[in-house]
Amino acid sequence: MNAMPHNRIQIMHGVNLDRLGRRDPAHYGGITFRQLERTIDGFAGELGLDARFFQTNSESEFIEHLHRLEDVADGVIINAGAWSHYSRALGDALELARVPAVEVHLSDVMAREPWRHVSVLAEHCIATVSGKGPDGYRDALVVLKGQLGG
Ligand code: DQA
Repeated sequence: MNAMPHNRIQIMHGVNLDRLGRRDPAHYGGITFRQLERTIDGFAGELGLDARFFQTNSESEFIEHLHRLEDVADGVIINAGAWSHYSRALGDALELARVPAVEVHLSDVMAREPWRHVSVLAEHCIATVSGKGPDGYRDALVVLKGQLGG
C-alpha cells in the first residue's frame, strides 16, 4: 500500500512573473511575486495541499523542471507568462510530464491583445483560469484537489 499523500502541487511561474509589483497594475494589480507565492501557499494550506514553488526566466530551465515533475509532484499549476502563447516546446514538455495541470493567468488574457488569446498549453491542461487575479490560483488548487481525489 502506498501511504504517500497525493497532495504535492508544483506551482510553476515563467518569464517576467518575478517582476510582479512592477508590471502594469491595470492587468496584474499591485501584488509582488513573493506576496503572490505566500497567498497561494495559504490557499494550499487551507485545502490540505502541499504547495511547492518554482520560477525561472529561462525557458530551458522551465522545460527541464517539467521533465523532472513526475517524480516530485502530483499536480501542477502553470503560469508560463508570454511563453503560454507560443512555446510549443513547453507544450510538448507539459504533455510528457504526465501530471494533471491547470493553467492560470492573473489577467483576463481573452480581453487583451489577440496574440494572448492563443494558449499552446491549454490542450495539455484539465482547466484554465484567467482574469481572477490571485484568487484564480485557489480555483486551480480546488480543481487539482478534486482530480487527485481530495
Ligand atoms: C500572464 C498573461 C500573459 O499574457 C503575460 O505575458 C504574462 C502574465 C498573466 O498571468 O496574466 O506574463 O500569464
